Amino acid sequence: MGGKLRCLSHRLIVGVDFGTTYSGVSYVPTNMTARDVIVIKNWPGPGRFTDVNNKTPSRIAYPEENSGLTSPSFGFNVTAKMKSYTWFKLRLDRSATTMYDDPDLRQSEGDGVLKLPRFKTATQVCGDYMKEIYQFTMRILDARFSADVLRITPIEFWFTVPAIWSDSAKSNTQQAARLAGFGTRHGDHVNLISEPEAAAITALSRVTTGGSEVQVAPGDRVLICDCGGGTVDITTYLIKAVQPELDFEELLVGEGGKCGSTYIDRLFIQWMTATFGEAFTSIPFERRGPGSKFMQEFEFCKRDFGLVQDPLAEHQITLAMEGADESQNYDADEGKVTFSSEDLESWFRPVVEKILAMLGEQMRQSQLHSGQPINKILLVGGFGDSQYLLQSLRQQIAVVRGAAIRGLGGIMVKSRRCRRHYGFQLDLPYDPSVDDARHKYVSQFNGRTYSRGTMVWKVKRGEKIDENTFICQTVSKPWYKHETLVFKLPFYSCSADIPPRREDHPRVHKIGEVVVDLRNANLNRFKKRWKFRQDSYIYNLQYELQIMFAQREGVLLREGVLFVRAKNGNDIFGKAYIEYDTE
Ligand SMILES: Nc1ncnc2c1ncn2[C@@H]1O[C@H](COP(=O)(O)OP(=O)(O)OP(=O)(O)O)[C@@H](O)[C@H]1O
Ligand SMILES: [Mg+2]
Repeated sequence: MGGKLRCLSHRLIVGVDFGTTYSGVSYVPTNMTARDVIVIKNWPGPGRFTDVNNKTPSRIAYPEENSGLTSPSFGFNVTAKMKSYTWFKLRLDRSATTMYDDPDLRQSEGDGVLKLPRFKTATQVCGDYMKEIYQFTMRILDARFSADVLRITPIEFWFTVPAIWSDSAKSNTQQAARLAGFGTRHGDHVNLISEPEAAAITALSRVTTGGSEVQVAPGDRVLICDCGGGTVDITTYLIKAVQPELDFEELLVGEGGKCGSTYIDRLFIQWMTATFGEAFTSIPFERRGPGSKFMQEFEFCKRDFGLVQDPLAEHQITLAMEGADESQNYDADEGKVTFSSEDLESWFRPVVEKILAMLGEQMRQSQLHSGQPINKILLVGGFGDSQYLLQSLRQQIAVVRGAAIRGLGGIMVKSRRCRRHYGFQLDLPYDPSVDDARHKYVSQFNGRTYSRGTMVWKVKRGEKIDENTFICQTVSKPWYKHETLVFKLPFYSCSADIPPRREDHPRVHKIGEVVVDLRNANLNRFKKRWKFRQDSYIYNLQYELQIMFAQREGVLLREGVLFVRAKNGNDIFGKAYIEYDTE
């Protein structure tokens, strides 16, 4: 009994690192410390390598398309012979683009490299994959804590998401996790954490505990460059304290792009297509797409690149291609594709250059905004293991390799920098000095002149945000009795340095609509006037909208945290939630 009571008083923290190419799970009970984080290592399946068992491939095969299967197969269980899907995470975010993205990413969807089964959306495929992860994780936890204890222990799940992701992509991730079953037990919760932040927590807790290649001290400005399969994320932190507890805050708005290590794979696939044409593209996807034996062999070439310094070295990969002629790139007898180190380098180069450009920009920003240089650069993530990448970066800047993401230690960054400007489009009193007369109109309620559709940016890019940050906006709406009491307020973001005054600017993106529901409000609280011509009252529905930055959930807004308050009262008289735009 005593044991049970103790279990009730704590929770389990489970970190889910859902990656483009690999995913991993770690956990720690709240009554333990960061050092006790346990990483799930025994991922099932015959295809597992000995060295990377702490993560399982982000790959799924469906029974509908594979005759031997009765249920979906995931991770190492998916063999090269199966028709399978991977890199689906990249499909969750189609709207947020940065200047550092792989320019061919969108095109790859058409090429089929990033394809999805015809019968599923990206969120569903991610959900299906996460469901396998969920079930396996729950089985492991079950074995570890016993079913009875697990049943009464609330679990807090933390999903990692790239920092560059749009709000709708984050909402998609939440949705996929729910579909998968995460957070569906009573008391369980799904939160999101940005990948560089998760990386920072682990990397920084390592470097403060001694014995590592790099040491950090209070006052240090540490840049963490997380190079994954899909994205590269850069964030800079100011170390505030190391003892008794690590404390750091985000110093600048980070940089990032969809230019991870799979960009190299896509360039290689493009080269194959350009070199061999139909002889290559007519091969079934299972034999040449990501996850095939062919691409696995390429993976080894990629990983080894830079370990030996031999510019003349050649690389060979087995692939039987009917109709491909013997050439310097193809040995038809043996069925082997050959390429040079120079070729391989040409696929690495654009990625390395983008990473260098991002690092340069971040260092410049640090100097600009704080007058202080970044003094430590840590390279983390799977692609961060690349010797070639490390050497190329070292030619220009001093970087060290950080610890790989091993799990979330349960320490949180207290504040971070807002990545985008957020705001509404509102009708403001007309100001002839700045407003265009085209947008001018006269209010039906009070007869005053307003300018339609001016952007009001409520939170600025670069601003510090924390658990308590919220946006507050007073909204007035002239309303006749027969009209609807459910209003939709478009909500916008912008990542330009200086946000524009109007919404039709190319850098302004509509992220969704705040739906305000005043159907249960007491209308007598609002001002009203009799309108003879309409033979009806016109009300001025004036209310205050509060939008929380749901830090823990990682999403900007969620249902239940949007308050609608009466102007002069303190009571909440309506509800509001956000509907994200889907493409
Ligand atoms: N030594 C290496 N050289 C080059 N690339 C490597 C090396 N080791 C791993 N990679 C690449 O790193 C990627 C895996 O890294 P990681 O597990 O951090 O990514 P992820 O979590 O799947 O992706 P993301 O975080 O971007 O969604 C793969 O694309 C893999 O090919
Ligand atoms: Mg990752």
